[in-house]
Amino acid sequence: MIGAAMFEYFSAQGWRVQATTRRRDHVDAVHPYLDLSAPSQDLPAADFVILAAAIARIGDCESQPESTRRINVDGTLSVARDLAGQGSHVLLLSSDKVFDGTIPMRRRHDEPCPACAYGEQKAVAEAGVLALGDQGAVLRLSKVLEPGLDLLTGWARDLDAGQPITPFHDLYLAPVRVAMVARIAAHIADERAAGIYHCTGAADHSYVDLARILVAGMDRDPELIQPISCEAANLPAAARPRHTTLEMTVEQARWGLTAPLFEVTANDVIGCLG
Ligand SMILES: NC(=O)c1ccc[n+]([C@@H]2O[C@H](COP(=O)([O-])OP(=O)(O)OC[C@H]3O[C@@H](n4cnc5c(N)ncnc54)[C@H](OP(=O)(O)O)[C@@H]3O)[C@@H](O)[C@H]2O)c1
Repeated sequence: MIGAAMFEYFSAQGWRVQATTRRRDHVDAVHPYLDLSAPSQDLPAADFVILAAAIARIGDCESQPESTRRINVDGTLSVARDLAGQGSHVLLLSSDKVFDGTIPMRRRHDEPCPACAYGEQKAVAEAGVLALGDQGAVLRLSKVLEPGLDLLTGWARDLDAGQPITPFHDLYLAPVRVAMVARIAAHIADERAAGIYHCTGAADHSYVDLARILVAGMDRDPELIQPISCEAANLPAAARPRHTTLEMTVEQARWGLTAPLFEVTANDVIGCLG
């Protein structure tokens, strides 16, 4: 999702962009082949590289820690080092899950304290990219909310049919739009900025709050919202942190970017649902 959006954003900004694929039938001049589980050493050189490919599902990393580590850490760092060796500036997309979610507004130089395999893998990958010195940057993201997400389209379909929806009252998100992720990545690219950067919403809200905004936006009966606990969904504990926000003081001071309010992001996304 994010890699494709980056491709569009950077192309529109006038960059000449290539986007890797691991699907042989998609390979062409703009889409070079890359499988992070067995990365080749002959990737095309680039001024700026965004490491967006990953196994990004917390449950997959929890159930298959070895095979996902090969992709999220070993393959990722192999590519990062190879391309940095050719002069590329490298940006790794990371996550609030490098922290355990017990406190809000984590600071960028707080020691990582992941509570899940996905967060552990991201923390190790971060350290490897930061070790590239002035060629390495890390951008930690909270939940990226876009209209195409299955959750939102599924809820909208059910509400349209007059069916109830069952959002979690005890699962939280501090969402951002992918366009904001791309804007920060573009600043990092333009300035060849190194170090750690953050992109999160201003505050955590529950999925019930998100459902309320959707129901209001679709002018449906609020009674169709039937909150449930995520305990029932078998989510690993680390996949349901109470806090996902990260402080954005540097992004504000340097680029004038502030963490968006929940209502603003949610209304914006829901307005695009059609
Ligand atoms: N989305 C979020 O809310 C969020 C939040 C925090 C951090 N992030 C991070 O942001 C990055 C992008 O996330 P996303 O939501 O865009 O994830 P996504 O939609 O799941 O995309 C991940 C991409 O990685 C590719 N990939 C998986 N295994 C690969 C391998 N072995 N070799 C090469 N490519 C492989 C997938 O290829 P296929 O299409 O072939 O499967 C897919 O295109 C990830 O690093 C994720 O951890 C995302």
